[in-house]
Amino acid sequence: MSPFSLTRTLPADATAAALRADVSQGLSRTPKQLPPKWFYDARGSELFDEITRLPAYYPTRAEREILLARAGLIAAATGARTLIELGSGSSDKTRHLIGALTGLLSYVPVDVSESALESAGRQLLADHPGLDVHALVADFQQGMTLPPTPGPRLLAFLGGTIGNLLPPERAAFLRTVHGLLSPGDALLLGTDLVKDEETLVAAYDDPEGVTAAFNKNVLLVINRELGADFDPADFAHVAVWNADDAWIEMRLRARRELTVKIPALDLAVPFAAGEEVRTEVSAKFREDGVRSELHAAGLDLAHWWTDDAGRFALSLALRR
Ligand code: SAH
Ligand code: AVI
Repeated sequence: MSPFSLTRTLPADATAAALRADVSQGLSRTPKQLPPKWFYDARGSELFDEITRLPAYYPTRAEREILLARAGLIAAATGARTLIELGSGSSDKTRHLIGALTGLLSYVPVDVSESALESAGRQLLADHPGLDVHALVADFQQGMTLPPTPGPRLLAFLGGTIGNLLPPERAAFLRTVHGLLSPGDALLLGTDLVKDEETLVAAYDDPEGVTAAFNKNVLLVINRELGADFDPADFAHVAVWNADDAWIEMRLRARRELTVKIPALDLAVPFAAGEEVRTEVSAKFREDGVRSELHAAGLDLAHWWTDDAGRFALSLALRR
């Protein structure tokens, strides 16, 4: 049997139905909003990888620093034989973990981006020909059925992607994680930390314009999938720090009054000049908050590691 398999847990039309529902609800309400998972078609996944290499986008480098320093400890603490990774993307940083987990038999990357799973899977197998890679195209906010791989299991959720969920979604997500694990299994969670506004906003509004292109990519996805006529030039990329909620908000702001037609939804969406669509929140955390959110979901924080500059944290939690 090939050591690489890719399973689609959702029929293709389920993704289409979810996009239609999210767009029709999100653009009909006030204020308008769209869920961030629709950024990640093949182009969006490439743009995200470009973001991770930008000088101002520190989270990826900070998390890599922690992983490099702690991979051996994580391996010793978990003894994982299966590594599950949600929102795995390029799986690039995960290589440090895979290299350290000496008893690892199976890697289960889960992502909505099939193109990211394909290319990450190919690269991993070149480096670890003995590893079983079961890639899963799935939405980690929906029910996921994982393959019956051996325990102990380590579930990784890296990059700070948990911050892209709203607080009630985070609580539901962590309960789902609890349900996927057995007692004694572990969660490795990456969280970006609260810091000064200037550093945060710079990370989401780079002078190269890559984050702006990533943000506007959602409009191109809606154009392609639903036949809409968004012109990305009609919208400005906006990144603001919302201190009350402790999150960065990415928005798209209409540069003029306009109406967008979305034939697949039989919808015409009016925008006032200056009107904004919220396309993403990216929450920033503190240790106490992470500990209590984990605890409420039946996960006990065992280790809290940060990079030397204290910008980003990796938590290792054990499932009760
Ligand atoms: N873990 C990688 C990638 C982070 S980018 C890193 O740390 O660099 C976020 C990833 O999560 C993308 O690959 C995106 O396709 C995926 N993603 C976003 N929402 C998702 C969802 N609801 N279900 C599954 N994957 C999702
Ligand atoms: C994937 N996620 C953690 C990124 C973040 O920082 O919230 C997505 C991103 N949005 C803009 N830049 C990067």
